[in-house]
Amino acid sequence: MTDNFLNIYALSKSYTDNNEKINVLSDLNLTLADNSIASLLGPSGSGKSTLLHLLALLDKPNSGAIKFNNTDLTSLSDFEMTIYRRNEISIIYQNNNLISDLTALENVAIANICKTNDKKNANILAKKLLVDFGLESRVNHFPYQMSGGEQQRVAIARAVINEPKLIFADEPTGSLDQKNADLVLDYLFQLRKKNRLIVIATHNRDLANKTDLRLTLSDGNVKVDS
Ligand SMILES: Nc1ncnc2c1ncn2[C@@H]1O[C@H](COP(=O)(O)OP(=O)(O)O)[C@@H](O)[C@H]1O
Ligand SMILES: [Mg+2]
Repeated sequence: MTDNFLNIYALSKSYTDNNEKINVLSDLNLTLADNSIASLLGPSGSGKSTLLHLLALLDKPNSGAIKFNNTDLTSLSDFEMTIYRRNEISIIYQNNNLISDLTALENVAIANICKTNDKKNANILAKKLLVDFGLESRVNHFPYQMSGGEQQRVAIARAVINEPKLIFADEPTGSLDQKNADLVLDYLFQLRKKNRLIVIATHNRDLANKTDLRLTLSDGNVKVDS
């Protein structure tokens, strides 16, 4: 376990809407180790998605730094950030954002084809992941032919095909019934390993109790309990 896998220093983010400034994160400091799963809690509007988007390099902070394995991600050029994001980071959303006219296999493989340009190998990897995720009989189905829980498992397979070191899930079970939510979480928990950190934003206390640590956002800052 590496204690300084992901370091967040004095991270601040505000939005300005109609000349009104909203401070969402203020001077937030946090260190997270690898080989762990953290839940990210806090009421709606407390900044969970904002924090995950900053960590996934989809948005930029007003100030502060995010260091990953001692590389300062916030100082990378836009091009370097794109490469970093593609190789090391995945984000999973509540609504899985699958491409509707691609099959399950194609939806998973495409992420790897973008990285390697090797369609044959991407298809082999995608098939294996779908089988591992209990979706062998859904490989050639389109999203509309699958249940919400199955679609979400396809989205997780897509998120891990490039072996990311950081996986962020933003309320990944928010639109699922309990049975499907439990299945999806089981698969997320199976992704824990050395050299990887998983952060799951959620409102679900039962889920939070199963994670290695709980991060609670309020008033722009974070409280950690393990
Ligand atoms: N792009 C944006 N422009 C303006 N305000 C935003 C934007 N994104 C989020 N906010 C505001 O920032 C706060 C935190 O939002 P968010 O990170 O989505 O919270 P959570 O995910 O915990 O519900 C909210 O007050 C929200 O309205
Ligand atoms: Mg949110």
